[in-house]
Amino acid sequence: MLAATGSAVGLGNIWKFPYITGENGGGAFVLLYLGCIALIGIPLLMAEILIGRRGKQSPPDAMKTLAIEAGVSPRWQLVGWVGVITGFVLLSFYLVVAGWALAYVFNAGGGAFAGASSDRIGGLFGSLVGDPLASTLWGTLVLAITTTIVIKGVKQGLERAVTIMMPGLLLILLILVGYSMTTGQFVHGFEFMFSPDFSKLNGSSVLVALGHAFFTLSIAGGGMMTYGSYLPKRVSLGKTVLTIGLLDTLVALIAGLAIFPIVFANGLEPGAGPGLIFVTLPLAFGQMPLGQLVGTLFFIMLSFAALTSAISLLEPAVSWLTEKRGLSRLKAGVLTSAGIWLLSLGSVFSFNIWEEHKLFGKTFFDVLDYLTSGWIMPLSGLAMAIFTGWIMSRAATRDEVGDGLGYRVWLFLIRYAVPVGILVIFLNAIGVLG
Ligand code: PFF
Ligand code: NA
Repeated sequence: MLAATGSAVGLGNIWKFPYITGENGGGAFVLLYLGCIALIGIPLLMAEILIGRRGKQSPPDAMKTLAIEAGVSPRWQLVGWVGVITGFVLLSFYLVVAGWALAYVFNAGGGAFAGASSDRIGGLFGSLVGDPLASTLWGTLVLAITTTIVIKGVKQGLERAVTIMMPGLLLILLILVGYSMTTGQFVHGFEFMFSPDFSKLNGSSVLVALGHAFFTLSIAGGGMMTYGSYLPKRVSLGKTVLTIGLLDTLVALIAGLAIFPIVFANGLEPGAGPGLIFVTLPLAFGQMPLGQLVGTLFFIMLSFAALTSAISLLEPAVSWLTEKRGLSRLKAGVLTSAGIWLLSLGSVFSFNIWEEHKLFGKTFFDVLDYLTSGWIMPLSGLAMAIFTGWIMSRAATRDEVGDGLGYRVWLFLIRYAVPVGILVIFLNAIGVLG
């Protein structure tokens, strides 16, 4: 349960949520995102953990076992496969951003932000991501740490890290919100996030909101299914899922409230893209009392949050290779990370030497993000909804969820709201709905 919380809360909340909210015009996007979390994300998180716990194996075999039990084709294991592969691809770009966060621990600790102008801080970020070697090294360090932890299988260390990190992260975010209130632009930032103006949405906003609901709750990345297989039967699924959903959403909203007032107070662009937190938060740390200490602690916490998510992205592939192919955890870990590392170079280069190489107007990094969050994860979410809502027996799902109103609400959402919601958003995205 703690590990699952660690998987959910990560860069998605603090790095991705603010930057895509900025790119999609604020309030209306936040509303779409909240709707996707409540009606699609939370029911699906339940479905995914349920499959893992009942199937009790790595994702492909968990799906296969349950499919055979339900009397349908074992090919349903494809859904498990897609999860494993998605985790692999996600980690390849996740580790690049986590590498930036780690590098910033040292920037903050070395006093690089003290009294710096926004130009100087922008330059600092530009020189980090613009240098392929530096970015690669930081990303490699993150991957090496993640792989070591996954190879050792340290569950207790992971849980302890989450119990310390989560309150610490929340506390620092609240300190940042406090700082934001002194900038004179708090109301502006608040309104940007919570007063919806639907004319600011662009053609892909709804799909981005849906994709982010998946990304931020770690749905369809294999990790939650794998953790579900370790979850004891006595733990309530409903409580677990609601706690994760609430906490994850809370962290994202607080991060937004900390960041947007700083954006407006410094005349920055909310739609600045993936660098948003790396150029706004350092400005705050450079100006507030004890900023050097608070900034260093913040980037340490952010790196930890990223690490606990990265672990959950690597674990599915390693658990499959050890369980099914009989590899040692060491071999499985090294083999998988070698592949992830190679793929990560494409994302590193998207911010420097391949910046101009674009496919449909997107860099390699953006393409991976768009394909996973925008299409692959919602599609496997659709499959998981059909599987748990229509294919598995009610006796089986009820046995996992527990009988009661919660079960009936979940069953309704997973059978109707989730599939219809995902299909409508897809049809809208490909332009069928005009
Ligand atoms: N949920 C993580 C975040 O918000 O940073 C990212 C993530 C982890 C996505 C694990 C998918 C996954 F399977
Ligand atoms: Na998240």
